[in-house]
Amino acid sequence: MSLDQREAPYLDAVLRYRETGYTPFHTPGHKLGKGAPEALRELLGDPFLQADVAMAGGVEDTRESTHLIRLAEDYAAEAWGSDRCWFLVNGSTSGIHALVLTLCGPGDEVIIPRNAHKSMLAGLIFSGAVPVYLEPQVDPLWGIPLTVSAEAAQRALGDHPAAKAIFVTSPTYNGLGSDLAAVAAAAHAAGVPFVTDQAWGPHLRFCPELPVDAMAAGADAAVVSTHKLISGITQTSVLMARAQRINLARLDSMVAMTQSTSPQVLMYASIDAARRQMATRGAELWRGAIEQARWARDELNKLPGIRCLGEEALARRGVSSFDPTRLTISSCDRGHSGYELETVLRDDYRIAVEAADPLNIVLNVTYGDAHADLEKLVAALRDYAGRRAGQAGGSGSAACTGLLARTPAFTRQVLSPREAFFAPSVALPLAACTARVSAEMVTPYPPGIPVLGPGEAVSDEIVAYLQEGARAGLKVHGPEDRTLRTLRVVA
Ligand SMILES: Cc1ncc(COP(=O)(O)O)c(C=O)c1O
Repeated sequence: MSLDQREAPYLDAVLRYRETGYTPFHTPGHKLGKGAPEALRELLGDPFLQADVAMAGGVEDTRESTHLIRLAEDYAAEAWGSDRCWFLVNGSTSGIHALVLTLCGPGDEVIIPRNAHKSMLAGLIFSGAVPVYLEPQVDPLWGIPLTVSAEAAQRALGDHPAAKAIFVTSPTYNGLGSDLAAVAAAAHAAGVPFVTDQAWGPHLRFCPELPVDAMAAGADAAVVSTHKLISGITQTSVLMARAQRINLARLDSMVAMTQSTSPQVLMYASIDAARRQMATRGAELWRGAIEQARWARDELNKLPGIRCLGEEALARRGVSSFDPTRLTISSCDRGHSGYELETVLRDDYRIAVEAADPLNIVLNVTYGDAHADLEKLVAALRDYAGRRAGQAGGSGSAACTGLLARTPAFTRQVLSPREAFFAPSVALPLAACTARVSAEMVTPYPPGIPVLGPGEAVSDEIVAYLQEGARAGLKVHGPEDRTLRTLRVVA
């Protein structure tokens, strides 16, 4: 089958629906904008409201009864090189849930990176599966997790022959890629399906100058967030899979279980449009973005006290590719935190970044950025570096860097995440938690790798680290009490 990738059947159907001008006796209640509050109309505009229908609203019937959504997904499957694709309206999060539920049941082992996205933890709780962790190293200069190495994956597959699947996150948030072909070969030699969380790589397939795409490297399934780096609107993602090692009928049921039954057609239309844009013009568009990002990186690295992560990352253990369009920028050598950089860029220069932590900021560069946008970024940081030259950093990051070097190791999984999640639990003062079993996840940033997950033994070392972290103002995600005065443990 060869489809004409210049077509966008779902997008066209939505446009046709709006142009036809139906009298709507269907959801949502604002009735194509006619009943919408004025403030909402001002925010969204009539063209949006006139196409704000759920799938049953006339564009087509239901997923089961018509072919339109399946046809658009077939175009995507061909574009991304998979047997089957599903459009998702709850992000890659729901794709990961669907994959874990398809591949693992209660008590099954699944090999995952220790710093897997938190949707993986929910997948483990839903399914009852037990994680076997691949522990990525942390880059000591940047405080970011490096990639999972093929050797570590191979070792885990050898040590856990009953594992039902291996998941790898690639590229990472900072654009570092694993050797996916080697992990795929190791997984397949062990007879295990290989899944890539490629949330940060919806674009890779479409430009040869970018790191290799998961499906091209031999993955059995992948999720890509079309809303992160290409033109899908927020929350849209695509799940893709091959039939050889994955039961596509079961995956189809799990996708249905993890999605809304009222998907917004504009979301689907935007995935269809993004796929067409990538399949027809992706290489050209991304070559432009790569050039812009490289220019900005070179300029930023000339500024005193500022550095921007680049291809030198390829020398780190396990890192086999780098996406040059991801900008990780730091001024922490001068004690200026990523939060400080983020605030200054936002308040003084009206520049909004993707993320900030005590050490770095992260920015996305895509085909949507003009050269003037990158010039504005470089000029702002040049100005900032000049203004701050010779001044000590405000919030600093030394304590954070010191803590990083002593991040405690994984202890032991006493209960499955699901057992710990549903067990009666109690919040105890942190000092009283040694030798207890954690009921929650605790992930310090940096480096964004959990020190505890539900069901894991709490050690002396972890308590001491978290106490020191709390004193140093370490930011943690996951626990109910983010001040870390207490920790929820299994009762
Ligand atoms: C590595 C990774 N996987 C999955 C996700 C979830 O993606 P989404 O926001 O599309 O649900 C994220 C979100 O940031 C992510 O960073």
